[in-house]
Amino acid sequence: MPDCGPNHATLLRDVWRPPEVRSTALRSVLDELVRLATLAANSHNSQPWHFRCREGSVEIRPDFARRLPVVDADDHHLWVSLGCAAANIVEAAPAFGLSGEARMREGPDGSHVQVALAPAPDTGERSLEAIVGRQCARSTYDGRPLEATAARILAGTGRESGVDVDLLVTPEHRSALSELIIRGNATQVADTRFRKELESWLRFNASHAAQTRDGLFTGCLGAPTAPAFLARMFFDGSFTVERENERLRAQLDSTPAFAVVTGPEATPAGWVAVGLAVQRLALAATRLDVAHAHVNQPVEVAALRGQLAKLVGHEDRRPDLVLRLGHGPPMPRSLRRPTEDVIERSGG
Ligand SMILES: Cc1cc2nc3c(=O)[nH]c(=O)nc-3n(C[C@H](O)[C@H](O)[C@H](O)COP(=O)(O)O)c2cc1C
Repeated sequence: MPDCGPNHATLLRDVWRPPEVRSTALRSVLDELVRLATLAANSHNSQPWHFRCREGSVEIRPDFARRLPVVDADDHHLWVSLGCAAANIVEAAPAFGLSGEARMREGPDGSHVQVALAPAPDTGERSLEAIVGRQCARSTYDGRPLEATAARILAGTGRESGVDVDLLVTPEHRSALSELIIRGNATQVADTRFRKELESWLRFNASHAAQTRDGLFTGCLGAPTAPAFLARMFFDGSFTVERENERLRAQLDSTPAFAVVTGPEATPAGWVAVGLAVQRLALAATRLDVAHAHVNQPVEVAALRGQLAKLVGHEDRRPDLVLRLGHGPPMPRSLRRPTEDVIERSGG
């Protein structure tokens, strides 16, 4: 028997453990901020990042070896994921007596996101619980509408960075959006290149997920687990447009509200701004006990973007993300690679 290392449940407890805020040693604080950054949402759980810790900042750099060339040909999701990681550092910083400000930087070794850190009085605001409590819950929701206050808070999350969060709650809007999602899903599931890429990121059972500590564990998707060799053998026969659309339709029909997120500009800087906003939205939803999950098919299938933009009245911009929001049971958590694997240590 191969040594599979610590089991899935033990790893999950460790990855999502409550933050350690007592230490005042700079290196421990920065390491803990990096760990919290890695808990952010990220496309396919590919974790496409490296971190460099400086005295007054954390740099989040793209790991292009973890690109998703089919579903994310122009690295849109990759930069959004870096923005999500930056948001977690900014939100966690006050608990460590720091303030954080994220900005895009160009350097001789490429673009990256820099989170500048400075000492700051403790504001008493606490995001740590939400950071370790957040998850993309791809469950069927119970249909209960969002409360008006929750809807107002969630719609306001991007405003100051030029990111629009449009909430779609009427039956007409939800139905029009659901049709776009279903059409996008059908296009993707029928596409051999998309299927191959997705399959390479699927982790078919708990020990498979624990081996790589990345990718999409089928348990998190509400799909059955199986020995990897068997799951691969049956993948083509079981992952069909008909089945996937039926499963998705049930989720969409149970969803009382959708958020369409549109950034200020279609550039890496604009996509990082979207990531910052959407991770804040996810943390706000977690605090409000509102479940969320991504349904990005109409932005991933480029031919559908125009219709989505029209639906939310931003015809002049590219819509970035689509989330569903509601109330439903939690799903199994996804893993992350160890912090040591993603921090670049530079000698001094
Ligand atoms: C830019 C971006 C795009 C994503 N697209 C999808 C998607 O289309 N469908 C989906 O189910 N999840 C999507 N996700 C969610 C990720 O798969 C999820 O964050 C990742 O698997 C880690 O799981 P967790 O957020 O529950 O920790 C996306 C996340 C990001 C940041």
